[in-house]
Amino acid sequence: MIKKTILVTGGAGFIGSNIVKLLCDDGHSVRIVDDLSFGFEKFVDNRAKFYKASIANDKVLDEALVGVDTVFHLAASSIIKYSIENPMSYIENNVLNGVKLLESMRRAGVKKIIFSSSASVYGEPEEIPIKESHPKKPMQPYGATKLSFENILQAYYHSFGVESTSLRYFNAYGPSDEQQPVTRAVPTWIKQILNGEPPTVYWSGNQLRDYVFVKDIAQAHLAVAELDGWNVFNIGSGTGILMRDLLQEIFLILGMETKIIDRGERPGDPERLVADISAIYKAVNWRPEVSLHDGMLETVRYYKENFQK
Ligand SMILES: NC(=O)c1ccc[n+]([C@@H]2O[C@H](COP(=O)([O-])OP(=O)(O)OC[C@H]3O[C@@H](n4cnc5c(N)ncnc54)[C@H](O)[C@@H]3O)[C@@H](O)[C@H]2O)c1
Repeated sequence: MIKKTILVTGGAGFIGSNIVKLLCDDGHSVRIVDDLSFGFEKFVDNRAKFYKASIANDKVLDEALVGVDTVFHLAASSIIKYSIENPMSYIENNVLNGVKLLESMRRAGVKKIIFSSSASVYGEPEEIPIKESHPKKPMQPYGATKLSFENILQAYYHSFGVESTSLRYFNAYGPSDEQQPVTRAVPTWIKQILNGEPPTVYWSGNQLRDYVFVKDIAQAHLAVAELDGWNVFNIGSGTGILMRDLLQEIFLILGMETKIIDRGERPGDPERLVADISAIYKAVNWRPEVSLHDGMLETVRYYKENFQK
């Protein structure tokens, strides 16, 4: 990819900080807009120009967007449970603030955006692996905000020529996932085991999931950055793993096994989520390169270095 100037919203978060690192390593000029509502200053790459601000702040955005080729839009509220408790704030941040960003882009003449969407747009799948054309029936406000913004991007393409690619991530894992409160299984389990506590599962760990390493997700952003038009792709490994087998992999890497606590049913949890990733492979030749074992080794190492008591 030729050297570009890229604005990463949410670049101080888990996935955003991994993307910023890759972009800076590749020699791109990077700007970050993040209000640190869920991100961390320690994740801000010192090679990037950092604006501590909300994407809703027109003044900052007007400055941060000057000369930008592409926006990678990761900033969002992304804790599903909170979106059920407070749907208005999720709609405000993930939809309305996103539109403010699009309006700032129009003012600045920036015509390309890569958007972090989610597998949650599908709801309970009718079949797996899930293709992009699968019916969209989000089961919580969070998924609905992601689907709404995809639709808004489609309208901005047809109405204003803003080109976009929405990437529907399945389950991301990897270093720098310090989400607070921790809701994702991988960091929860690694921290529980390192602290000598039994890891907790739901549904006896029988849910089928698609785990994709964060550095592969970052590569996918580079792969689609040159695409024209309006596009939507799944980002996953293309392979399902039962949650209980994922836990066994972590036990294996940590070299210890403890008892497991089963918390039983968790309503609203799809039974099976596995991505069909053939569309993005066909379009830009992207597919994940890091095996679950290697990705998990790196992830466990991160938590050992940063969290072991
Ligand atoms: N982690 C996953 O498994 C996963 C799966 C599907 C989709 N996604 C999406 O990917 C994106 C990144 O997820 P993540 O896991 O890195 O989350 P994260 O919470 O670590 O990162 C989001 C970042 O956005 C920032 N932010 C939130 N609202 C903002 C605003 N109004 N203005 C500026 N900054 C703001 C936060 O401070 C945070 O640094 C999100 O859009 C999320 O919905 C994540």
